[in-house]
Amino acid sequence: MNSLEKAIVFLVLLTQAYGAVQRKPNIVVILSDDQGFHDIGYHGSEIATPHLDQLAAAGVKLENYYVQPVCSPTRSQLMTGRYQIHTGLQHRIIRPSQPYGLPLQYPTIADLLHDNGYSTHAIGKWHLGFYKKEYTPLFRGFDTFYGILPGASDHYTYEQCDVFRGKNNMSESLDKVTFCGNTLLDMDQPVIDANGTFSTHLYTKKAIEVVEKAAQLDKPMFMYLSYQVPHSPIQAPEHYYINITNIVNQNRTIYAGMLASMDEGVRNLTDALKQNGLWNNTILIFSSDNGGRPSFGASNWPLRGVKSTLWEGGIRTIGFVTSPLFSPEQSGKSSTELMHVSDWFPTIADMAGATVNSSLDLDGVSQWEMIKEGKPSTRKEILHNIDILSPAQGTRFYNDTFDTRIRAAIRVGNYKLITGDPGDGDWYPIPGITNYIKKAFHSKFDPNAKNLWLFDVAQDPEETTDLSASMPKVVRKLLDKLSKYNATALPPWYPDSDPNSDPPLNGNMWQPWVQS
Ligand SMILES: *[C@@H]1O[C@H](CO)[C@@H](O)[C@H](O)[C@H]1NC(C)=O
Ligand SMILES: *[C@@H]1O[C@H](CO)[C@@H](O)[C@H](O)[C@H]1NC(C)=O
Ligand SMILES: *[C@@H]1O[C@H](CO)[C@@H](O)[C@H](O)[C@H]1NC(C)=O
Ligand SMILES: *[C@@H]1O[C@H](CO)[C@@H](O)[C@H](O)[C@H]1NC(C)=O
Ligand SMILES: *[C@@H]1O[C@H](CO)[C@@H](O)[C@H](O)[C@H]1NC(C)=O
Ligand SMILES: *[C@@H]1O[C@H](CO)[C@@H](O)[C@H](O)[C@H]1NC(C)=O
Ligand SMILES: *[C@@H]1O[C@H](CO)[C@@H](O)[C@H](O)[C@H]1NC(C)=O
Ligand SMILES: *[C@@H]1O[C@H](CO)[C@@H](O)[C@H](O)[C@H]1NC(C)=O
Ligand SMILES: *[C@@H]1O[C@H](CO)[C@@H](O)[C@H](O)[C@H]1NC(C)=O
Repeated sequence: MNSLEKAIVFLVLLTQAYGAVQRKPNIVVILSDDQGFHDIGYHGSEIATPHLDQLAAAGVKLENYYVQPVCSPTRSQLMTGRYQIHTGLQHRIIRPSQPYGLPLQYPTIADLLHDNGYSTHAIGKWHLGFYKKEYTPLFRGFDTFYGILPGASDHYTYEQCDVFRGKNNMSESLDKVTFCGNTLLDMDQPVIDANGTFSTHLYTKKAIEVVEKAAQLDKPMFMYLSYQVPHSPIQAPEHYYINITNIVNQNRTIYAGMLASMDEGVRNLTDALKQNGLWNNTILIFSSDNGGRPSFGASNWPLRGVKSTLWEGGIRTIGFVTSPLFSPEQSGKSSTELMHVSDWFPTIADMAGATVNSSLDLDGVSQWEMIKEGKPSTRKEILHNIDILSPAQGTRFYNDTFDTRIRAAIRVGNYKLITGDPGDGDWYPIPGITNYIKKAFHSKFDPNAKNLWLFDVAQDPEETTDLSASMPKVVRKLLDKLSKYNATALPPWYPDSDPNSDPPLNGNMWQPWVQS
């Protein structure tokens, strides 16, 4: 070897040694669907989640952590680090028959990790649009996809129905035309042999296969495991709940079984990561996507409100991060630092040592130092949402700032301001456990309906005491902030249903139906 060759060999060896030591961590994001704030063992739940509790206890629990009130918005923010007003997805969820999705100009966290040398895998529910193939996971940064593109399906048959709807008719349940079809895909191909296998088993098995393959690759792995449980329909294999005797409400008993299946699934997945030698270099993130629905067995107790509302019960949720890479000082911590679902994009980028292009102008901030080193969060406010398409409520308070008839909410420091119609603001007791019922009111569309609330959610997380009348200056300041945010909003994207989405026209599947 001449000296140049020697230098090259030395450099190659150095790179390999460095690569082996500094290998980027595997990142696993597990998202549960409609799991309530109270519905995890370590929040004092009567539902046991021993494996999730154990993982959380070894990591950092996020105890001041916010998501969005419904599925597509939370997922859009997790994927892009942008508020809903900055993607045009500020109104409701993407229905299977609606021709839209997460706009293509925003890179997803999977795009970023893929560009940084990761193998990337999405398993389970997508719910970020699929009318054209470009909106589906395989075109949004994921190497592999196994799961369903719309927001829900039966947990055994993977069938899903939708009704025709549009922006000019907000009627949720009444419509004439019903579309039904199958949902399950492996990459972009319909899966026909899974009918009868419970969704948690199916997705866990797939996740383990991904781990086994990833262990053979000379690349770090990113896995997005988006379980369908405990979203309705309320179904679970009987053995998960047959012996649960401490819950008297039948829906909640089966719901507990759904959580038990997920708890076991996460154990199986972490076992597989260990057996395949990946666990010691893995960071695992767990989060629910929004508040729970008490009528379907969930509980957000003691928080007010439910899924799809702007009350704390709709948006404050369960989350934790755990990893054998954490220092002993940081393991076992509960953090009350403010964090929001839009923070995952820059946080995960930091975990992977990936650079975020500043021209993306994200709404999320990196929480990696907060999580890993216990540093304070740099987040001081959260725009929960501004939804100009929601029906206006009540009469306007001020003419020269944000219109309080519009559905919106913002958090600044300890204060949270809500305007318009925030949705069902009752406190629901834990089904079958608590007899104590705090009755609030359901929202009403009358011109005199209340449309302004201010809470100190640090002191009053249950939102019992409205301060809006006694603190007009704070109200005004937060309304002005809403106005500023509103000026940066994109027009909402919420097209009417497209009859061509009808599954019988598309191989009986909910799958892309518009040619690019
Ligand atoms: C799934 O199985 C059920 C029960 O056997 C059956 O009624 C249904 O048609 C099947 N669905 C599909 C998509 O094959
Ligand atoms: C919305 O749909 C319902 C059910 O079909 C119908 O009764 C109602 O008139 C529609 N409203 C509008 C504004 O079209
Ligand atoms: C439920 O309890 C009965 C009686 O103790 C026991 O025989 C059975 O194996 C239990 N079933 C499950 C699924 O744990
Ligand atoms: C976990 O693994 C056990 C043992 O293989 C299996 O019986 C169980 O069904 C698995 N659970 C899930 C949710 O995949
Ligand atoms: C993880 O374990 C593997 C196999 O035991 C070992 O080669 C590797 O260095 C370990 N990585 C870390 C970050 O500890
Ligand atoms: C139980 O869930 C079903 C839907 O699966 C719902 O129709 C019913 O109202 C729920 N029961 C209670 C007591 O909330
Ligand atoms: C950042 O994005 C802008 C706009 O897309 C692009 O022009 C620029 O090259 C990017 N910078 C880097 C370092 O990738
Ligand atoms: C807002 O404008 C309306 C219409 O011009 C007027 O009637 C009302 O008094 C104004 N309200 C306030 C608080 O200034
Ligand atoms: C918010 O901005 C939109 C334009 O994007 C405007 O039409 C609307 O009047 C504004 N609403 C409020 C409450 O300021």
